[in-house]
Amino acid sequence: MINQEDLANCLVTIDPEKFHNNIRKVREYLDPETKIMYVIKSMGYGHGLLEMADLALQSGLIDMLATATVEEAVSLRQNGFQGFLMILAGIPKKALPAVVQHDLVTACYNLETAQTLNQMAKDADKVLSVHLKIDSGMHRLGVAPGSELEFLLEGLKKLENLKVEGVFTHLANADEADEIVSNAQLDLFEEAIEQIKAAGLSLRWIHAAGSDAIIVSRRSHYNLVRPAALFYGYDTAEGEFNRLKLEPVLRWTSFITHTRRVKKGETAGYGGFFQAKKDSIIAIAGFGSSDGYLRSLVSKQVEKNGQVIIRGQRAPVVAICMDQTLIDVTHIEGVKTYDEVVILGKSGNQEIDVYELLKRSGTSVGNVLAAISKRPLRIYRSFN
Ligand SMILES: Cc1ncc(COP(=O)(O)O)c(C=O)c1O
Repeated sequence: MINQEDLANCLVTIDPEKFHNNIRKVREYLDPETKIMYVIKSMGYGHGLLEMADLALQSGLIDMLATATVEEAVSLRQNGFQGFLMILAGIPKKALPAVVQHDLVTACYNLETAQTLNQMAKDADKVLSVHLKIDSGMHRLGVAPGSELEFLLEGLKKLENLKVEGVFTHLANADEADEIVSNAQLDLFEEAIEQIKAAGLSLRWIHAAGSDAIIVSRRSHYNLVRPAALFYGYDTAEGEFNRLKLEPVLRWTSFITHTRRVKKGETAGYGGFFQAKKDSIIAIAGFGSSDGYLRSLVSKQVEKNGQVIIRGQRAPVVAICMDQTLIDVTHIEGVKTYDEVVILGKSGNQEIDVYELLKRSGTSVGNVLAAISKRPLRIYRSFN
């Protein structure tokens, strides 16, 4: 029988043990009474939605799950997850019945949506939990403390089928060690909390911290934190300096399909994207932009481009197509068809980590990882 793994051009290997270790280290860093809501959004940053949910729950250290979209939340429910499940971002109007059907906790920042949801909950004879979303400065979802919040609170008083159980905000500069912006946001957030309590509501859950804030700002922990990146092994203090000694849990590999000699001055790739400055050897690898390798990692300035590891040595990507990538391997002895190409991860004494790719591509941890498309086969087993 043909094994899926034998068919795949690209493998994304996820190490369950490393993932569990990261969760344990985050858990140990938190005060014992602080709960964890694992933000499993964007297909678990490319690691796999259902598989990562299962692994996280197996650890016994995760209290709640959150997604960004209703689609991912429903998928978790349909696959048997019955616990606390929150949607952090906006929801399409036609998806609101699914929120009621699956008892999903939602962010509340808009009276009109709250009224619609309340009516649906009433029709279904249910009371749904919502968490008020405070805009403390990021100017994304949320209401500001003061008159905006007051308007929402007044309106919510009449909605008997919604129960305000929590309040949350999101920090825009959580990685900054001086915490000036974060503290200003938290001051506003705490004003909102006081306002909510003064309106007679008791708040079971108060949350503000994603990964960066978990490390940088204990003040932001309140009684619930919302990590994602930390669990995948990423702390903004990078690599060996990472403060909880976390380890990346994902390794992304492909293979060499062919090698070509390109003479000085000749070009390779669409539109002659790469022009050889000297006689060169180009290896063709079996992955491309359709697998989620960011096109922004590939420019005509080769020294700025993403690199991969072949035979324990780094080599720059010089051109990319949907399914194939061209790599300059002139300096590497004996590269041949079927050699492994490490796109993310370690090989020998070299390592390509997400931080390297995010700097070269000008994006974020979440972006580099969540960009990995569904096409590379995910396998869940240990690696070194
Ligand atoms: C509202 C919210 N909370 C938490 C997170 C988790 O972020 P991180 O990966 O930095 O832990 C995100 C991710 O973007 C988010 O949008």
